[in-house]
Amino acid sequence: MKKRLQISLLILVIAAGVAHAEEESISPHMMEMMKKMGGAKPDERTELNIPAPMKVMQKRMMRKHLDTISEITAALAANELEQAAKVARERLGWSPAEEKRCSMVEKMTGEAGFTSFGMAVHKKADELADAAQKGDRDKAMGLLSELINNCNNCHKTFRH
Ligand code: HEC
Repeated sequence: MKKRLQISLLILVIAAGVAHAEEESISPHMMEMMKKMGGAKPDERTELNIPAPMKVMQKRMMRKHLDTISEITAALAANELEQAAKVARERLGWSPAEEKRCSMVEKMTGEAGFTSFGMAVHKKADELADAAQKGDRDKAMGLLSELINNCNNCHKTFRH
């Protein structure tokens, strides 16, 4: 019993230390800035329960997605619609490989919805490719905005 109490106390002291260290690393100036922006709020998104190396890999893939978005935007800006369609379809379009990747994460984490968030992005990329291929740049631009919103719908729900 005594030992249990000692262990509980030790845990309490460590937890308080960690909390204190976290607070200390924020300067008063930064605190003030954060207050102006509505103050520190807890991150209430769902943490994806996947091993650390998978998180590294997933984030690498994400940065590639952002590169792809940049390439599509550049091609649309230059009115290179064939190129925009090609990049959107080949790098971001829905495919059995994408389906496998997304549903694997869903299965591993048990997070229903992960695959449909992914699918929404990839299918929007196919729609964008169709519009660009038909020569409709305005429509493709609108779809690009929707695509980016679809990226963020997942970010608003899940985190590492
Ligand atoms: C199905 C879910 C999902 C979709 C769809 C998704 N992401 Fe992500 N993304 C994540 C998760 C989870 C993280 C990790 C967030 C964290 O670090 O807490 C992330 C992180 C990122 C990051 C940060 C990478 C880093 O190095 O920290 C970028 C950039 C990013 N995503 C871009 C995109 C873009 C662009 C798209 C759309 C083309 C997209 N994501 C679609 C889930 C998703």
